[in-house]
Amino acid sequence: MKEIPEEAIKAIKEANKLVVLTGAGISAESGVPTFRGKNGLWKRFRPEELATPTAFKKDPKLVWEWYNWRRGLIAPIEPNEAHRLIAEMEKLYPEFIVITQNIDGLHKKAGSKKVIELHGNIWRVKCTKCKFKEENRQVPLKELPPKCPKCQSLLRPDVVWFGEPLDKEVLEEAIFHSETCDLMLVIGTSAVVQPAASLPLIAKNKGAKVIEVNPEITPISAIVDWSLRLKAVEFAQKLREHLFS
Ligand code: OAD
Ligand code: ZN
Repeated sequence: MKEIPEEAIKAIKEANKLVVLTGAGISAESGVPTFRGKNGLWKRFRPEELATPTAFKKDPKLVWEWYNWRRGLIAPIEPNEAHRLIAEMEKLYPEFIVITQNIDGLHKKAGSKKVIELHGNIWRVKCTKCKFKEENRQVPLKELPPKCPKCQSLLRPDVVWFGEPLDKEVLEEAIFHSETCDLMLVIGTSAVVQPAASLPLIAKNKGAKVIEVNPEITPISAIVDWSLRLKAVEFAQKLREHLFS
């Protein structure tokens, strides 16, 4: 089993401002399917048919049925050791921020406080017309597609779809923290979806050390300081020993 290099452990221990950037891979061992790779969600369900504004306009019920299914899948799922260790690490550092591409809410469920959700959250809905937005944890949803209680227009999941820009403030905050951290841990992302994939490069360009944790090689593997071929939970178990024992 591959070990975490001592220099990488030292960098993690000595960091003042640590940013953790996560993708679908961190939730894989909790049972949430990843998008790409084996058993990728997109292989069974074509995203362009479902996760786009055009698809929603054409058939909101179908898109909601798919989200309803995904919400049902995620609802009973628990954070794993990687989510939990990250939540505990927050207390060790003067500044510690999680930036996630995941919409499953598992970082917060694990207890992380400072979480930037780049692609939104599957447990929030928003109105397609007015400013109405609320948390909604109903599984399964009673009404499909759900309607806005304020104006009766269609509600949609508060997530970012293909072809949609990220929320400007959310992205600016993520860039700011990437520019000002001294260590970035990148866990479980294929690093192909922009702009999230640029954040490790931004951190690196500003002088931060970057550690990648992914069983597969990604486009950023060659530019990071350490690219560790480990699964998220395996990495977390090893790191816990160094940080807490
Ligand atoms: P992907 O599905 O593209 O990539 C998942 C990555 O996790 C792959 O590189 C796997 O090798 C890795 N992986 C798998 N199992 C792992 C494990 N146990 N531990 C660590 N890594 C593991 O997911 P993302 O990079 O998150 O966007 O995808 C980015 C975005 O693409 C998503 O947020 C979503 C999708 O389109 C939106 O919905 C807007
Ligand atoms: Zn409304």
